[in-house]
Amino acid sequence: CDKQDARVRKQRLLVVANRLPVSATRKSEDSWALEISVGGLVSALLGINEFEARWIGWAGVNVPDEIGQRSLTKALAEKRCIPVFLDEETVHQYYNGYCNNILWPLFHYLGLPQEDRLATTRSFQSQFASYKNANQMFADVVNEHYKEGDVVWCHDYHLMFLPRCLKEYNSKMKVGWFLHTPFPSSEIHRTLPSRSELLRSVLAADLVGFHTYDYARHFVSACTRILGLEGTPDGVEDQGKLTRVAAFPIGIDSDRFVRALELPQVKDHMKELKERFAGRMVMLGVDRLDMIKGIPQKILAFEKFLEENPIWRDKVVLVQIAVPTRTDVPEYQKLSSQVHEIVGRINGRFGSLTTVPIHHLVRSRPSTLTDDRSLDFHALCALYAVTDVALVTSLRDGMNLVSYEFVACQASKKGVLILSEFAGAAQSLGAGAILVNPWNVTEVAASIGYALTMPADEREKRHRHNFTHVTTHTSQEWAETFVSELNDTVVEAQLRTRQ
Ligand code: G6P
Repeated sequence: CDKQDARVRKQRLLVVANRLPVSATRKSEDSWALEISVGGLVSALLGINEFEARWIGWAGVNVPDEIGQRSLTKALAEKRCIPVFLDEETVHQYYNGYCNNILWPLFHYLGLPQEDRLATTRSFQSQFASYKNANQMFADVVNEHYKEGDVVWCHDYHLMFLPRCLKEYNSKMKVGWFLHTPFPSSEIHRTLPSRSELLRSVLAADLVGFHTYDYARHFVSACTRILGLEGTPDGVEDQGKLTRVAAFPIGIDSDRFVRALELPQVKDHMKELKERFAGRMVMLGVDRLDMIKGIPQKILAFEKFLEENPIWRDKVVLVQIAVPTRTDVPEYQKLSSQVHEIVGRINGRFGSLTTVPIHHLVRSRPSTLTDDRSLDFHALCALYAVTDVALVTSLRDGMNLVSYEFVACQASKKGVLILSEFAGAAQSLGAGAILVNPWNVTEVAASIGYALTMPADEREKRHRHNFTHVTTHTSQEWAETFVSELNDTVVEAQLRTRQ
């Protein structure tokens, strides 16, 4: 085992994801301001210092000129990041179009956009062509930087075509692919016009990973029902080649949160928040402003709770942090206005001259110290720590690490987590959380009442369960397990070929 650990530690890991963990802003023709972003995948992979990791991905900016591309490549190299440059049209067709308007809603059970239902529509076909083309561009950059013995770890629904492109370059390359969203029931996947091509491409990888056993099972049954392949307990077999399919539930770098609570600036933030919300219980939601997060449903449940429990109206506040995302996609623009409208109505209905029941803050994440509209890490930790009840009520969610972050910051308060049964996290934190069906506003409203009045010993028991899970199943452990299994898969395949 020690020998294997040493091998894993020395290995070069090429992490390929649509988005780099660094966002770039252009300062002049050849200078850039770089900022590390701490989102779901990013916070998970921050814990994998053990490997010699390099990131390959899009920096989130359009850089059409050569001077810009060269200077950004140089600046990113210091952060061990390698950029893939996507032009505006590709971003429009591949990222906004195929990834975020087709795959994302489909994988979260929201179906295909109406106008794209027919495989023959122009936009679907051109978006899929652009998707494949963009994946090929990622493959070119990986291939350019790949050295023998490297492990290539591809991430998420943006890059389902990548394993195949990479294996076409070099069939010996060790390739893993991990999906951060749910993989839906095969009946949902079947509706996708490019269903078979995507499955076949993913199967080119040596190891395919999901957050939960259910997602892995859905993927295997899609391969058996749609492609007619054989599903085995280990994965999917096609003409003697086994693609290993398994569940690897992600975690967070929990120490980072636990340690932050000891920092003076976090303590100052906490003091400030406690003063501001004195005499009120604090409920918290932190979500990207995405339809899968169920923000309108959550706020409506809070309204129902206030409606039915007048005594709580001046005793509880809901802080809802909404992080704008994919703002070029019309669905996201609509959602943003919808949330503003509902919050305005509820605050008008239950607010007073001095207080409002919902503090709806639109804040970008990552943060910069100079940007007071963003929520920095320390302020976020303080907010988690002073919260009595967190509401994570996604309609569907691959895992949801906000629930993990909240638990990590609750060692002293032992607050309650209300968690959607449709988030992957329900499978790991289910015993400690109050599980709800987020579509059932009445049930969520009742759970709010239950959470706010939960006896201390029950809170303690539930918290202990979740805290133990979050602090032992960390992002580091997740990454190490995946990479070590990827190495084993290749060894196993070699043994099979020799037999
Ligand atoms: C989800 C996806 C990630 C993505 C993130 C932020 O968590 O699984 O791959 O990076 O959302 O979305 P964005 O479109 O801004 O990269």
